[in-house]
Amino acid sequence: MRQAGRYLPEYRAVKERYGFFEMCRNPEAVTEVTLQPVRRFDLDAAILFSDIMVPLAAMGVEIDFAPGPVIARPVRTAADVARLRVPEAEEIAPFVAAAIPMVRAATHVPLIGFAGAPLTLAAYLVESGGTAEGFPGFRSWLHQQPGTAHALLDKLTEVTIRYLRTQITAGVHAVQLFDSWAGVHSAAVHARFGQPYAARALAGIGDLSVPRIYFATNAHHLLDQLADLPAEVIGVDWRAPLSAVRPALPGRTLQGNLDPAVLTAAPEVIAEQAREVLRHGIGGPHIFNLGHGIRPDVPPDRVSRLVDAVRSFDREPAAI
Ligand code: CP3
Repeated sequence: MRQAGRYLPEYRAVKERYGFFEMCRNPEAVTEVTLQPVRRFDLDAAILFSDIMVPLAAMGVEIDFAPGPVIARPVRTAADVARLRVPEAEEIAPFVAAAIPMVRAATHVPLIGFAGAPLTLAAYLVESGGTAEGFPGFRSWLHQQPGTAHALLDKLTEVTIRYLRTQITAGVHAVQLFDSWAGVHSAAVHARFGQPYAARALAGIGDLSVPRIYFATNAHHLLDQLADLPAEVIGVDWRAPLSAVRPALPGRTLQGNLDPAVLTAAPEVIAEQAREVLRHGIGGPHIFNLGHGIRPDVPPDRVSRLVDAVRSFDREPAAI
């Protein structure tokens, strides 16, 4: 999940100097910001600092962040899709490929690379900023222009595979595919426009033997489709307890799922809520994580308290 960000003063200092997008394109800045949470907290892994929208610039998309992604010219017509380039792997984000060995040299914790899933990337490209109702313009567009949608998703899938392969070759230990807005779609729409492309993206790196994590939010109605994805790990948001999700995802490691909103509460509340998540994870392999990214209003010391609570949890209490 996002672990770097505005809640850290050291992140704000780097962002002040470079600006957000420039920070994503500078290997030294990427390395520094990736390492910040690992220096401050006793974490088991680092996630590469970047954004899911970064590789799209190489396709010819003009992107800004305010703070979420804003697209200068949304992609809507068949001609818009035809204009998008499918860059060679080494053109997509050379600064990311450069930063990965720098991060590896500076820390012993494993490094997680990532990309956006095709359906989530398409939501931003078509509608630009998201809304509370969950990309209603994009959802309409999928029904108005299904052929154009498939052409767009096809290109995004190819770029995602190339981009993830580049990250793995450069040295990341695992990759996460972020399908943050998969859950805004009906099960039927997701079966047509989401699942097959996410499956293709994940299968496209299957020969490289790194663990693949797939994450969606609000996806309870999609669990049977997620069960068919070629991913070793499924990230789960905070809405349902892991014990309720697990039967639908046999053989998978579950990752999650503390509500990040808890991190503004008192330390004892954070510890108790973390233990609750850990208890629900006991039925199988579990990677503790938040159910979504850390919000800017979280005091950093609360993250330390969370890490303490997770580290002191005994997954195999002695029988009484
Ligand atoms: O180092 C790390 O912890 C990784 C950081 C990371 C960012 N974006 C940096 C970022 C990751 C993993 C992402 C992925 C991402 N980006 C996703 C998938 C994960 C998720 O949260 O669902 C999505 C949907 C995006 C698109 C995006 N980029 C949004 C919605 C926003 C605004 C977020 C906000 O906090 O308001 C961004 C901008 C962004 N990406 C920020 C960061 C740290 C905040 C920018 C700022 O500092 O002003």
